Amino acid sequence: MVRTILHYPDKRLRDHGEKITTVTPELRKLIDDMAETMYAAPGVGLAATQIGEKLQLFIIDVADADEPSELRVFINPEILESTGELTWAEGCLSFPGITEDIDRSARVRVRAQDGDGHWFELEAEGLLAVAIQHEYDHLHGELMIDHMGPLKKRLTHRKMLKRVDGHSVA
Ligand code: NI
Repeated sequence: MVRTILHYPDKRLRDHGEKITTVTPELRKLIDDMAETMYAAPGVGLAATQIGEKLQLFIIDVADADEPSELRVFINPEILESTGELTWAEGCLSFPGITEDIDRSARVRVRAQDGDGHWFELEAEGLLAVAIQHEYDHLHGELMIDHMGPLKKRLTHRKMLKRVDGHSVA
């Protein structure tokens, strides 16, 4: 089921995800819903907090359009190491129509559980590293606008307010 994606400045986007203790059938269903929602958008990543679920869970698929999809599930993720610097023109499904250069680490090492609850470690760079940092932020109530300078921040805030007419538009 495609779920409604919360748009900035919805306050629920500031919620933190809570630790997940067990992979239940309900959690698997939520992961399916999130994947459906992300692919329908379309987007390369989606955090549970973006659909109003306060859980430590995000999904990413950075495969190119002409490649087979490669869904990655991150439960209870932890970024163990960040190195280097990288600026990437980022978008976010909670900020429709906005693309901004955001400074990130070039490489990250992350530890998380997959959709079956098995722990894994992953070293990522490029778009995957950017997406991991972006989605990880979501689980801690942080948004791409928080990484912008004062001017861009004000402009983005104003643009997003203009979109709000009682409900999300996308
Ligand atoms: Ni986002």
